[in-house]
Amino acid sequence: MLIKIWRNYSKYFFVSNRESRIAIFFGIVGAFLETLSIYLLANLISNFENKFSYFNIKFIGPFNLSNEIIIAVFFISGIFASYIYYISNKNIVRAKCKIERYIREEITDLTLNIKWEYYLKLSQGDISKSIISEGQNISEGYMYFLQAITNSVIAITYFCICLLVVPDTFFILILYGFLAFRIYVYYSKKAEIYGKDLSSITSKIGNWTASLFNNLKYIRTISKDKIARDESRKIFLHFGNAYSKAMVASYKSKFITELLTICFLFLAILYILISNSSKSNLILSLSLFVRMTPKVYNSQTRFLDSLAMISWPNLYTKKIKWAQNHHENNIIKKHKLDFNGTIILNSVSFNYPDCTSIIENLNLKINDKDSIGIIGKSGSGKSTLIDLITGIIKPTEGDIFVSGENTRNININEWRENIGIVMQENYFKNDSVAANIALGEKNYNKEKIKSSLIKANAWDFVEKLPNSIDEIIYDKGMRFSGGERKKLALARAFYSDPNMLILDEPSTGLDIKSESEFISVITSILGTMTVIIISHKKDLVNICDRTLHLKNKRLIAI
Ligand SMILES: Nc1ncnc2c1ncn2[C@@H]1O[C@H](COP(=O)(O)OP(=O)(O)OP(=O)(O)O)[C@@H](O)[C@H]1O
Ligand SMILES: [Mg+2]
Repeated sequence: MLIKIWRNYSKYFFVSNRESRIAIFFGIVGAFLETLSIYLLANLISNFENKFSYFNIKFIGPFNLSNEIIIAVFFISGIFASYIYYISNKNIVRAKCKIERYIREEITDLTLNIKWEYYLKLSQGDISKSIISEGQNISEGYMYFLQAITNSVIAITYFCICLLVVPDTFFILILYGFLAFRIYVYYSKKAEIYGKDLSSITSKIGNWTASLFNNLKYIRTISKDKIARDESRKIFLHFGNAYSKAMVASYKSKFITELLTICFLFLAILYILISNSSKSNLILSLSLFVRMTPKVYNSQTRFLDSLAMISWPNLYTKKIKWAQNHHENNIIKKHKLDFNGTIILNSVSFNYPDCTSIIENLNLKINDKDSIGIIGKSGSGKSTLIDLITGIIKPTEGDIFVSGENTRNININEWRENIGIVMQENYFKNDSVAANIALGEKNYNKEKIKSSLIKANAWDFVEKLPNSIDEIIYDKGMRFSGGERKKLALARAFYSDPNMLILDEPSTGLDIKSESEFISVITSILGTMTVIIISHKKDLVNICDRTLHLKNKRLIAI
C-alpha cells in the first residue's frame, strides 16, 4: 500500500522538491523537540513528586540538571517545536499549491499542443474537469501524503522514545503498534476500493454537464430537460456515495484505533501499578503515550485519505502519457518564415487515425494574391483541406510548402499569423464585441475595430447595440444571429490585416441582400491578398480567379 502511494505521488515530491523536503525535515526536528519537551515535563513532575530532589535525567545522559534548567529547556523546546511544526505545515500547503499549479499548467500546455485529430477525441468537459479537479485533488492527496509522512515520523519518534525510556511497557507498546498497523492495512484496502472510481466519475460529471449546458437550447426545445435532470442526479449520487465511502474509511480506522488506544492506556496503567514501577515511570509513559496516539491516528487517517484519492494521480498519469504520445513535435529547430504568397500542396493525402482517406494525392499551387473558389459535396473534404493548409492537421503523406518552406519544418504560428479566417463555426467568448474582434489584444484600436466592422458590413447592427462595440455577446456569440456572427468573424479576420483570407461557407445564414453585399465586399479585396472561398453557392465562388471542384478526394479545375 505504501509503495502504491509512493508510486503515484512520487512525481509530485520532485515537483515540490524544496517545499516537501523542508516540510518533512522540520516535521522530524519538531518531533524530536516536542518529545524532548514532553519528556522533560514528565521528569519535572516526577521531580516535584520527589520533593524537589535533583533528578538524574535518563534521556539526556549522565548529567544532574536542576529543575530551573529543565524548566527552561522544556519551555524553549516546546515553543520551538510549535514554531517548527508551523514551518513544516506552511511548506506542506506551499507544496500543495505548487503541485496544483504545475498540474494545471501541464494539462493546459499538453492540450494546447496535442495533435488536432487526437484532440477531437477528447471531451471538453473532461478537459475542464482535469484542469479544475485533477489539479485540486491530486495536490490535496499529495498534501495528505506529506502530512501522513510527517505525522508518522512524529509517531515513530514517540514510539521509539517510549520503548527506550519506559521499557516496562515494551510488550504493550509493540502490540499496540502492531494492531494499529493492521487496522491501517485493513482500512487502506477499503479506501482504495471505494476511491478507485472517483476520478472517472468526476470525468463523467464533466462530460455530462458540458454536453448538457452546451446544448441547453436544443435540449429544452425538444423537452428533454427532465431526462437530463434525472440523469444528472444519478451521476451526482454515484459520486457522492463513492466519495463518502472512501473518506469514511479513514474515520472508521480512526475510531477503531482510538478504542484500541483507550484499552492500551488502561492496560499500561494497570501493568505499571501491578508491577510496582516508579511513579515517574507511570507519568512519563502516560504523557508520552497520550501525546503519541493522536499522531498515530493522524498518520493513519492521512495515509488513508491519500490512498482514497489515488485514482486521481493514477488516471492522470495515464492521460498524460496518452497526450505525450500524440503531441505536436515542436522540438526540432524550426525555420523562420517570410511569407511571399506561394503555397504548394505536393501529393498530399490525409486520413484520420483508423479511418479511410479523405484526401488522396492532391496537388495544388496557390500564387501570391490568387483567389480560389472550392466547391464539393458535403463531406467531400473541403474543410479538411483548409485544416491542412492552416497546419491544424499534417498530411499523412505528401508535403505542404509555404514560401518554399515545408510546413513540417517551420514554426507554424509564424505561418498562421498571415491568415484571417471565417470558419463554419466561429469562436466567440463571453466578452465585448471589441474584445472579440481584437481577440487577445489588450489595448485594442477602437478606430480599427470600427473600420473592420464597416468593411465586413457588421457596423449597421453593432452601432445599434445599447453599448455598441462594448456590448457583451455571451459565450459562442449567442447574443447574435447566425448571419451576424459570420459578419463579426469576417470583421475579426480583417482586423488582423491578413495576407491570406480563408472563407469556409461564409454566406451561410445571410439573407439575399446581405449575401450580395458580402460578395461585393470580397470582390473589393480580391487582388489585395490571397483568398480561398469554400461554398456551395456558385455566385460566391465564381468571383474568384479559379474555381476547383473537390471530387473523389482530389481537386479538379472547372
Ligand atoms: N475527426 C474525424 N474523424 C474521422 N472522420 C472525420 C473527422 N472529422 C471529419 N471527418 C470526416 O471527413 C470527411 C470530410 O469532412 P469535411 O468537414 O472536410 O467535409 P466538408 O467538405 O467540409 O463538408 P461540408 O460541406 O458539410 O462542410 C467527412 O466525411 C467527415 O465525416
Ligand atoms: Mg466543411
